[in-house]
Amino acid sequence: MERVQKVIANLGYASRREAERLIQEGKVLINGNVANLGDKVTTSDVIKIEGVTLDKTKSNDKVYYLLNKPRGVVSTSHDEKGRKTVVDLIDTDKRIYPVGRLDYDTTGALLLTNDGELTNKLIHPKNKVEKVYLAKIKGIITGTDINKMKNGLVIDNQKTSPCRVKLKSYDKKTNTSMVELTIHEGKNHQVKKMFEVVGYDVLKLTRIRFAFLDVKSLKSGEYRILNPKEVKRLYSLGE
Ligand code: URA
Repeated sequence: MERVQKVIANLGYASRREAERLIQEGKVLINGNVANLGDKVTTSDVIKIEGVTLDKTKSNDKVYYLLNKPRGVVSTSHDEKGRKTVVDLIDTDKRIYPVGRLDYDTTGALLLTNDGELTNKLIHPKNKVEKVYLAKIKGIITGTDINKMKNGLVIDNQKTSPCRVKLKSYDKKTNTSMVELTIHEGKNHQVKKMFEVVGYDVLKLTRIRFAFLDVKSLKSGEYRILNPKEVKRLYSLGE
């Protein structure tokens, strides 16, 4: 007997958190009945998610992709509005999904996998996985504002953790600055909201690194498969 959300995650259908959300939204059926969080199932139970029956004989092969996300694609597996998703950019018949999200207009390093266990590990704040962003902002940022961001500020009634903030360059003519931020949380629209609090608009945002993975060798929209050593290293994060 295993909890239904664990079975869904282990089969690579969704991350544990996504599986929990699907259950809470009533989209998961066990033998035709709406599942509840924590329900236990055996191998003979039939699990259906959004009308699709889970194939428990499906090979459990895990896949890992690093994508240089272009602008104008959504970071989900399905989009209600029919927009292009990051999964559409990857040639696979596995049910992969992104590890965390980048906004529609944000570019850069995004991991996609069908490994729910690794996904949970990488998105859990306690593991402090680093994400490095480069933001082009309107205005010349002051040292005071950089310090406020470094020390943490309140967005959505929650204080952000201390982080690294570096002014990389600025241009008085265009009145813009390039700022690098290293954070290890993943609050919704965190970078844009942090700049908003100190009064700057983000004109462009790119994630230049996720953990130790950068996308320097990948053009926009290109991806590569992680090698086993990299996967092992990701697993060891936060241990
Ligand atoms: N922070 C944002 O505001 N947007 C992203 O896409 C990622 C981090």
